[in-house]
Amino acid sequence: MSPIPEKATGEIHIRGGVRLQGKVKVQGSKNAALPILAATILAEGESYLKDCPKISDVYRMLRLLQSLGGQVRWEGDGVCVSTGSITTQDMPADVITGMRSSLCLLGALLARCGSIVMEYPGGCVIGQRPIDLHLGALEQMGVHFHEEEGRICGEAPEGIHGAEIHLALPSVGATENILLAAVTARGVTRIEGAAREPEVEALCRSLNACGARIEGAGSSCLEIRGVKRLHGAVYRIPADRIVAGTYLFAALGAGGCVLLEQAPCGHMQGVIRMAERMGALCQVTEEGLYVQSAAKPASAGVIRTGVYPGFPTDMQSVALAVSTIAPGETRIEEHIFENRFRVTEPLRRMGADIRQLDSHCLYVKGTDRLHGQRVEACELRGGAALVVAGLMAEGETVVTGCEYIERGYENICKDLRELGVRIHSV
Ligand code: EPZ
Repeated sequence: MSPIPEKATGEIHIRGGVRLQGKVKVQGSKNAALPILAATILAEGESYLKDCPKISDVYRMLRLLQSLGGQVRWEGDGVCVSTGSITTQDMPADVITGMRSSLCLLGALLARCGSIVMEYPGGCVIGQRPIDLHLGALEQMGVHFHEEEGRICGEAPEGIHGAEIHLALPSVGATENILLAAVTARGVTRIEGAAREPEVEALCRSLNACGARIEGAGSSCLEIRGVKRLHGAVYRIPADRIVAGTYLFAALGAGGCVLLEQAPCGHMQGVIRMAERMGALCQVTEEGLYVQSAAKPASAGVIRTGVYPGFPTDMQSVALAVSTIAPGETRIEEHIFENRFRVTEPLRRMGADIRQLDSHCLYVKGTDRLHGQRVEACELRGGAALVVAGLMAEGETVVTGCEYIERGYENICKDLRELGVRIHSV
């Protein structure tokens, strides 16, 4: 069986108004798995990534690794990857165009092959997504970039060397690309102002399991001593804190009692505190996160996204959806991306009272109930927010554009059905 099933599409039908009840196991983290899969390019021999999530972004990354010459196979609840014969000579077109979504291949391929060709990554619906910090840091490490027919060509003729890098913004992707270029570089690399997200910490730990020498994992100052080579390793992908947060807020919005098995509570403090502020009773247990919530959430007052350990931008749309039925007024501030309020329009069609001030701030006035509608997802986290809104709405909600949701959620319908929701995809 091909390790990469063709993507499903379709629509999700939800009958709202049911309190959630039961337990669900939280899947592996998309944003940890992607850079760790890219890192297999640097390891000699085979790596096994336990709990790697079966989502379309991972399937896309596996396809890219295969088209570069890597071998890939699912085994049990993980994936085996060996990249002995990886080369960037005449990169297949789908890799060059696919790189945008798998930008974390940039640092790994430059370190492994010394050159790279990729389409100039455009923006996406949530923002411009520039890569100036990635390119600037890699240039400090000896990479030369030039543009050719709308593509970026990078090469390191004398190989990659260590550097002192100060990131103007704690960019997650830029930190990851620097790490992937630095682990086998000549000399030492220091990153000041590195991203502290748990997914970056997981990448550091997985690289050290392969023989890298990284100090400071989880902090904003990372020091990487280049080593000659890395070896394959077995590594467990941590649970996805955003998927866990999505289901936590689903329980908050619909009411109920749920156990989120293996939720990474240690990396969810900002999200748990926000849910408690909105009325959830949360208890960290051996098995994961136990959540109880009355029928109606309270307003958080202000929800402000920020870099870790602040409230994650990837949770903003879901928190917005739940805030639409919280009595009173909630101010929502998005400080990471410049266009992450796209879900406002379909929520309004479901009855939400939302006033947007500008691209970074809006006010939600709690309404008694949302009503079911046919709505369209246009990006991953906004799509998840529409499913959560459907749980809270009266009547039936149909969410189209499910291919966006499948990028990050293994099976949101199955997970929510296990919590008693009347939901199915067609
Ligand atoms: C990662 O994106 C995540 N994606 C995003 O999750 C997440 O929202 C984001 O980090 C913030 O936590 C993956 O890990 C695959 P950034 P990334 O570089 O690396 C600006 C999801 O839904 N910036 O930290 O692209 C940028 O414009 C996705 O799972 C520059 O200006 O995020 C943004 O405003 C969405 N120049 C801010 O930094 C650069 O060179 C944060 O971006 C790079 C970034």
